[in-house]
Amino acid sequence: MTETAVIVLAAGMGTRMKSRLPKVLHRAGGRSLLSHVLHAAQALNPANVVAVIGPDMEAVAREACSVIPDAAAVVQTDRRGTAHAVSMARPALEGFSGTVLILYGDGPLITAATLKGLVERVSPQMPLAVLGFEARNPTGYGRLKTGPAGEVCAIREELDATPEERSITLCNSGIIAINSQRLWELLPQIGNANRKAEFYLTDLVELAVKSGQFCGLSVCSESEVAGVNDRVQLAAIEQAFQHRYRQQHLLGGATLVAPETVYFSADTVIGQDVVIEPHVVFGPGVTVDDGVEILGFSHIEGARIAGGARIGPYARLRPGAEIGEGAHVGNFVEVKKATIGKGAKANHLSYIGDARVGAGSNIGAGTITCNYDGFDKHLTDIGADVFVGSNTALVAPVSVGDGATIAAGSVIARNVPGGALAMTRPELDVREGWATRYRDMKRAKRAAKGK
Ligand code: UD1
Ligand code: MG
Repeated sequence: MTETAVIVLAAGMGTRMKSRLPKVLHRAGGRSLLSHVLHAAQALNPANVVAVIGPDMEAVAREACSVIPDAAAVVQTDRRGTAHAVSMARPALEGFSGTVLILYGDGPLITAATLKGLVERVSPQMPLAVLGFEARNPTGYGRLKTGPAGEVCAIREELDATPEERSITLCNSGIIAINSQRLWELLPQIGNANRKAEFYLTDLVELAVKSGQFCGLSVCSESEVAGVNDRVQLAAIEQAFQHRYRQQHLLGGATLVAPETVYFSADTVIGQDVVIEPHVVFGPGVTVDDGVEILGFSHIEGARIAGGARIGPYARLRPGAEIGEGAHVGNFVEVKKATIGKGAKANHLSYIGDARVGAGSNIGAGTITCNYDGFDKHLTDIGADVFVGSNTALVAPVSVGDGATIAAGSVIARNVPGGALAMTRPELDVREGWATRYRDMKRAKRAAKGK
């Protein structure tokens, strides 16, 4: 089998984004645009991955390595066109002799299946294949000129096209697969005698055809190759991802009561028979097991939810939340970096951070783990079958043993042994008749003023 190497062009800053952040680091579907492209590429098991980045874009290089640890980043200092950008990657691919797949870092919707189809078109008879699409409005795209057998004869950029060529609606996505030997042979022959005076990668096609080779064509849907140039397009890409994820989870056996109000991340994992009510947001890193119910308006990220648990409405699970089987996390409960044991319940108005709650324990309304002392975070360790009364403050580091009971309104600043009752409760002072006397006195004063 021929090996594949991937070059991702990502040197553009993306001026129209009006941002300090390089364009490909903007996010949709819970991941950066670049990360989406690299995930699609990764499915091809590439032997090498090279990102072509602009100057001062170390953050882009780091992002590439966070997805593909041995990815290389090469810097293109002057933006002299797509062919020039590809030539920057050559030293990083020294010794590689398979098929080179060239992708754009700002086209995040591309799927692995489409890329596989394109790469498989490359053969000794057809050393080059282009990914095209039928454009509803072809303005701005390079047009694909095809021959009798459906092969591509040339790509004409909009600015350089004749009126007749401009009427072509079959367009260039920019994604190309090419035999590496042909690529490095043809690339230096590309000139910049065009309206933009740029070195166009698209000129590869005519050069290949002139030297007697064929250029293949793969066609995908326009939506798959939509790029991001501004934040209007970024919002459209987000919508496209959400549509994709909602379909995927519905078909995977989750019930979404109002799918268009639920937001997923690319890596969200949802089991079967999970019910998700309206207005739920899944940030990155969430796994939900079978039979979980997530009630409306919950916000969940970096969390694992075990089978049969019930979350929300209005729950917030933050990174490191591990919710056990059948556990309940109710309204206005925030859980961060904490394990909630099997069958445990925190149903109302609580903060559980840097904590462990043992199986079967009950956390009363208004319980707060006081995990932060202004400098460091500390752990709260609550055993199994503990009853924590409402409005309890657990001042960490602190532990509560199995089966203990904490009386409502307590401030627990010392460890409580298993089976014990702990309470901090000032003596209750009841003054018989006081309220009635007070009210009568106030009313009498008001009446006297009124006269
Ligand atoms: C390119 C194609 C065009 C295609 C269109 C699809 C060429 C000459 N034209 O045009 O046929 O229809 O994409 O969107 O290739 N880049 C660099 N360094 C450079 C120039 C570009 O890294 O010097 C990167 C950009 O950041 C971008 C990609 O390459 O990710 C494409 O460049 P862009 O300037 O958008 O090309 P288009 O004019 O849109
Ligand atoms: Mg473009």
